[in-house]
Amino acid sequence: MDFLSIIVKKRNGLELNHNEIRYLVDGITNESIPDYQISAWAMAVFFRGMTPEETFALTQAMAESGQMADLSRIMGKCIDKHSTGGVGDKTTLVVAPIVAANGIPVVKMSGRGLGHTGGTIDKLESIPGFRVEMSREDLFDQINRINLAIISQSGNLVPADKKLYALRDVTGTVDSLPLIASSIMSKKIAAGAHGIVLDVKVGSGAFMKDLNAAEELANMMVRIGNNLGRETIAVISDNDQPLGNAVGNAIEVKEAILTLMGRGPHDLEELAIVLAAHMLVLGGKFENVAQAQARAKEAIYDGSALEKFKEFVRAQGGDLDWQDPNYGLRMAKTIVEVRAKQSGYIVENDAFAIGNCARLLGAGRLKMSDAIDHGVGVDVLVRRNQKIKEDDLIARVYASSEEQGIWASKELESICKIASTPNEDRPLILKVVE
Ligand code: URA
Repeated sequence: MDFLSIIVKKRNGLELNHNEIRYLVDGITNESIPDYQISAWAMAVFFRGMTPEETFALTQAMAESGQMADLSRIMGKCIDKHSTGGVGDKTTLVVAPIVAANGIPVVKMSGRGLGHTGGTIDKLESIPGFRVEMSREDLFDQINRINLAIISQSGNLVPADKKLYALRDVTGTVDSLPLIASSIMSKKIAAGAHGIVLDVKVGSGAFMKDLNAAEELANMMVRIGNNLGRETIAVISDNDQPLGNAVGNAIEVKEAILTLMGRGPHDLEELAIVLAAHMLVLGGKFENVAQAQARAKEAIYDGSALEKFKEFVRAQGGDLDWQDPNYGLRMAKTIVEVRAKQSGYIVENDAFAIGNCARLLGAGRLKMSDAIDHGVGVDVLVRRNQKIKEDDLIARVYASSEEQGIWASKELESICKIASTPNEDRPLILKVVE
């Protein structure tokens, strides 16, 4: 077999067979196929798409390209969750403790920030002392003890995706539905959970800009998960504006803590409860989602989810100060307020632009080698269609310098658009695909 003919076949819109897809994934993993040929193939897929059979074969081959986790030593049915990526998305930090506090083990391998979107691992690393890596022995021990561990993707988990993803990131081939579906699902399959809840984001802050694309992706991933023996469901949620207020790292952890205390933004609490409820149903704890939602909410308001979060942070070496207003998280010292220039309604809170603003403040990376600044970010204090008066506080910028803070505050003045009449609203949760 030669790879050039595989590229040409895909370029001509033909379907690749299982052997050709295996050959591709083996070649990516053992580095026998050069980057320029892999990139050319990815671009051919971007324009030609993949059939469901091809997407399924790619997912399976990538999942098997490295180590497959064996969770049989964990007592109980393990449930995983994954977001397709959005701005202000700190749901894992709220959802995972709720589910674990209800007796369902959650082993989650999370990622770092990607483009304008944040990543759970970067957020967790803003907690002093927090370890995102651990040995298999320690992982199993922690899960069996406290039902919860969140770690970064280990070196040998789905190496083919790691390589392909890095190439897609720099060749304009990230937003291809079959490539996103196989990238996410290969990691979920290799991570070994018995059930998977997907949070498919749609809107300016997400990789899927419209509902049709989000539904297509959700259907694709649910089909792959179920075909590979994992009960999978997807919740499609809006990310046209950031989820919650905080966009950054330390400030997102603080907001997640406040949400676990019942003092967080309404949209974050709502989505966390829905995702947790689906996880509790998949885990066999409840028969229906309404009952599970009531219990998930109770876990916030009776303090059990917060206790689980504290236990989890301690278990992974994190040191939070519960007497401190910022819980011992290091926030940037320069804080610049953004005030409304006129009265009216907030008609747009463009999540992509806000995510990019936070990224340029240093909350995300521009190159893979960049170090991030955990203390910087943006707190957007208004929601879409909220009525405001001139001079109301609409956002707070946490910056590493006065100059950066002023730059970001000017950006936010134009990003948070105000008009005299409100826009048509849309709900946070748009659809559930089972
Ligand atoms: N998240 C992933 O892990 N992969 C993608 O392709 C997009 C989002």
